[in-house]
Amino acid sequence: MSRLIVISNRVSRPGPSGNQGGLAVALAEALRESRGLWVGWSGDVTDNFTGQIGFHEDDGVRTATIDLEEQDVDEYYNGYANRTLWPLFHFRIDLAEYARDFEGGYNRVNRRFAECISPLIESDDVVWIHDYHMIPLGQMLRDRGFGGRMGYFLHIPWPPTRLLVSLPHHANLVRTLFAYDVIGFQTEEWLESFRHYVERELGGTVDGDRVTLGDRTIEAIACPIGVNARHFADAATSDDARAMYGQMRASLQDRALIVGVDRLDYSKGLEERFNGYARFLKDHPEHHRHVVLTQVAPPSREDVGSYQQIRATLDALAGRINGEYSDVDWTPIRYVNHGYPRDRLAGIYRAARVGLVTPLRDGMNLVAKEYVAAQDPEDPGVLILSRFAGAAMQLTDALLINPYSPEEMSDAIHRALAMPLDERQRRWRAMMDSVEQQDIGWWRRRFTSRLNGEDAPVGKDE
Ligand code: G6P
Repeated sequence: MSRLIVISNRVSRPGPSGNQGGLAVALAEALRESRGLWVGWSGDVTDNFTGQIGFHEDDGVRTATIDLEEQDVDEYYNGYANRTLWPLFHFRIDLAEYARDFEGGYNRVNRRFAECISPLIESDDVVWIHDYHMIPLGQMLRDRGFGGRMGYFLHIPWPPTRLLVSLPHHANLVRTLFAYDVIGFQTEEWLESFRHYVERELGGTVDGDRVTLGDRTIEAIACPIGVNARHFADAATSDDARAMYGQMRASLQDRALIVGVDRLDYSKGLEERFNGYARFLKDHPEHHRHVVLTQVAPPSREDVGSYQQIRATLDALAGRINGEYSDVDWTPIRYVNHGYPRDRLAGIYRAARVGLVTPLRDGMNLVAKEYVAAQDPEDPGVLILSRFAGAAMQLTDALLINPYSPEEMSDAIHRALAMPLDERQRRWRAMMDSVEQQDIGWWRRRFTSRLNGEDAPVGKDE
């Protein structure tokens, strides 16, 4: 078995609680099996970049991290990654900022990673690079002589060609993807946009999964990421989850809970969600006092202006809606700016009659899948899901809505709260089948088997 080298901006190491995201768990298994290595930014800033690598081993998973300089963090992470690529790839060219310094910093940091990582890689290793922070890294590793198998997975959407061409030097960036052997997207839609770009802008050709540019042919596939459905379902009945569930129910009394859980990001449609909920309160006075929206939204990327703005907007909006509709003993929105460990979160999901997931654009959205996995099969809640989340391609039994329409959101909330048990069970079962079958392990095996050149279809139990 070849050794797997995973490279991503963030490296997930288990915290004191042992809680880790699904991606970390899935990759940890593969890394452990192959005695591999996970490489990324330490999250720390140093005065002078030395290229020194910090090695750790937790629970059989080896990680290697690199410190960056403040200028690197500003130009690469806060700059090109989160002020340029993130908004553009989420269809927000109005928020995208284009600056030469950002692009320069992005390339410099990717080169720094290439320099530090190259000596750690052996010729028969398999390299798997993740997300928009590291697009050109594969090319840079090739330039330094790595000739082995190399894959890339994009966790966020790939934008339509007409938007992508607004990025200065877009062709240079996209061409670097041809250094990989396999590239993966979350959905067919993002894959289609990628192929369209390559054909129209670069003059490349597409033949099924194979995309050719000049003398390079790569495989480009749709490979939707999943959650660890079994772990999440178990988490929902853990002691911590039960305690959280009890706490929620006691504070809600008989009121129905609607829940949203998102990083505080403008792509998540939080403003639209609050407005849709306000519309519901306006349309349905009979629900006043009988329903509560709990929105968990830990702040994210706080050095970026557009994130500061969305936070201020939501603070004001939650305050305005609560001011308008609250009573001395009822507050319609509980707005919480911090996260919860997985087990407690699973308890919150299970207590919620409705999961409200309304991104304006999302590569996949794992909250939707986690909400489904955490439900009680006897008495499941209803998922309301934006059509513009990648997850909507699989979770077709959710109530699918257009998040830009407060009326559609209001109608869907009303319908969800009134939905009879048999319909809730039927919809939940269909969604849970999908969440269980295409779980995080399926995703990882599907991608790595392509990367290893094994073309056999991947079933659940392989
Ligand atoms: C998205 C991205 C990830 C990123 C995560 C958290 O899911 O696809 O690459 O790690 O957001 O954002 P942050 O900027 O805190 O790493």
